[in-house]
Amino acid sequence: MELSQGLISAAYILAALLFIFSLSGLSKQETAETGNWYGIVGMAIALIATIADPRVDNVWIILVTMVIGASIGLQLAKKVEMTQMPELVAILHSFVGLAAVLVGFNSYFEMDHSALTNFTNQQQIATNIHLVEVFLGVFIGSVTFTGSIVAFGKLRGIINSSSLMLPHRHKLNLAAGVASFMLMVLFVQQGGGDGALFLMTFIALAFGWHLVASIGGADMPVVVSMLNSYSGWAAAAAGFMLSNDLLIVTGALVGSSGAILSYIMCKAMNRSFISVIAGGFGTDAVVNDDVDYGDYVEINADAVADMLSNAKSVIIAPGYGMAVAQAQYPVYEMTRALKEKGIDIRFAIHPVAGRLPGHMNVLLAEAKVPYDIVLGMEEINDDFAETDVVLVIGANDTVNPSAAEDPTSPIAGMPVLEVWHAKNVVVFKRSMSPGYAGVQNPLFYKDNTKIFFGDAKASCLNILDKL
Ligand code: TAP
Repeated sequence: MELSQGLISAAYILAALLFIFSLSGLSKQETAETGNWYGIVGMAIALIATIADPRVDNVWIILVTMVIGASIGLQLAKKVEMTQMPELVAILHSFVGLAAVLVGFNSYFEMDHSALTNFTNQQQIATNIHLVEVFLGVFIGSVTFTGSIVAFGKLRGIINSSSLMLPHRHKLNLAAGVASFMLMVLFVQQGGGDGALFLMTFIALAFGWHLVASIGGADMPVVVSMLNSYSGWAAAAAGFMLSNDLLIVTGALVGSSGAILSYIMCKAMNRSFISVIAGGFGTDAVVNDDVDYGDYVEINADAVADMLSNAKSVIIAPGYGMAVAQAQYPVYEMTRALKEKGIDIRFAIHPVAGRLPGHMNVLLAEAKVPYDIVLGMEEINDDFAETDVVLVIGANDTVNPSAAEDPTSPIAGMPVLEVWHAKNVVVFKRSMSPGYAGVQNPLFYKDNTKIFFGDAKASCLNILDKL
């Protein structure tokens, strides 16, 4: 089946509109499912219109590739845990980057280089524009490709999550940028040139790797959304090379929404946007593990249950550990039991608790925790001082006082849940190991803090039993 160009353009406009509706739907919990459907339908229309384009030959190759890709995708999607989602997103971004590189090389080698000499002025301008598109597409794609692989490795724990601090790292980044720009000028002036293109690809691959490797653990959420933005721009560049309007529109949507999300996250974490995208600019702080914070005090289920039963107000600060343990269900049961005793109980959600934006909100919604007792950091941070008991369930970096008190800490300046102001704090964790950013947490050694060791789910069930 082949469609006319008019019909294809109409299908592309419809798909673009559906993508915009999808983004708008996904911005609210209540409309997220409909938003997802808009995206699915938009993508189906886009794929059909692309395959049915009369310029496409060898349709069967596309179909076979799609079947293979879709089966791998389905398997992965079925298996992936919520906590592994950012890793999956990061590796998918690397595919977008790689695709842009391949499209760029293909587009370059397809050009008729022998005809370049007898061009009219207008043809010359069009060729130059195309060469710039190819160059930028390969550059952005390469940076996205290796950057996303490093992000994947860091999130998966196969690459050390602390920042790589090469000497003169900013100068190295700057040199890579300047060298790539000069190679682009040379590339366009010469009407193309394999050497310039290959050399830039090599520089851009190393640049992407270094850019993300030099960003420390606590800034990873911003990096993931930033790479999301890069992958959008890489797709838009591929759209220009392929003269595909839908790819340009979709790429621009992803590119700009990723950039906006990165900016919002930077603001929430009190990080400078430029410093994060420039790769660890200003992150000269070092992890200081030698400080002696004193001893910690353990507590058991009976004592926690007693403490809770005698409290008037309780706040739960959940984090990544609650997600790993899948403890949200017993946590909710515990909430209900305390509510029945007339105790005021609420949840405090840090914007980067867990491993993806909104992670805690999704888990709590899954366990049917009512929205009105789930509060954001800014809404609840002043209430800790009047709270009898705070249960820190699998959270660590997001409740670390050194962010507020120690200017040399790698997470200094990041707003945190100030749980230590409460009368009593109980921390649920399995060992004394640090959180994602790899920094020690002085909260664990404060006089009003007790540690309840064990898997968060088992610990909550245990307390529920005693309650
Ligand atoms: P983390 O700092 O990652 O700490 C998790 C805590 O949970 C640790 O103390 C760990 O201690 C404990 N834990 C792990 N498994 C557990 C289990 N089964 N039962 C009980 N405890 C368990 O958590 P957080 O406070 O949520 O902070 C999130 C961190 O991830 C931040 O640094 C953030 O920047 C980063 N990050 C966030 C995102 C987004 S967008 N949210 C994306 C990537 C990275 P034990 O090992 O001793 O049990």
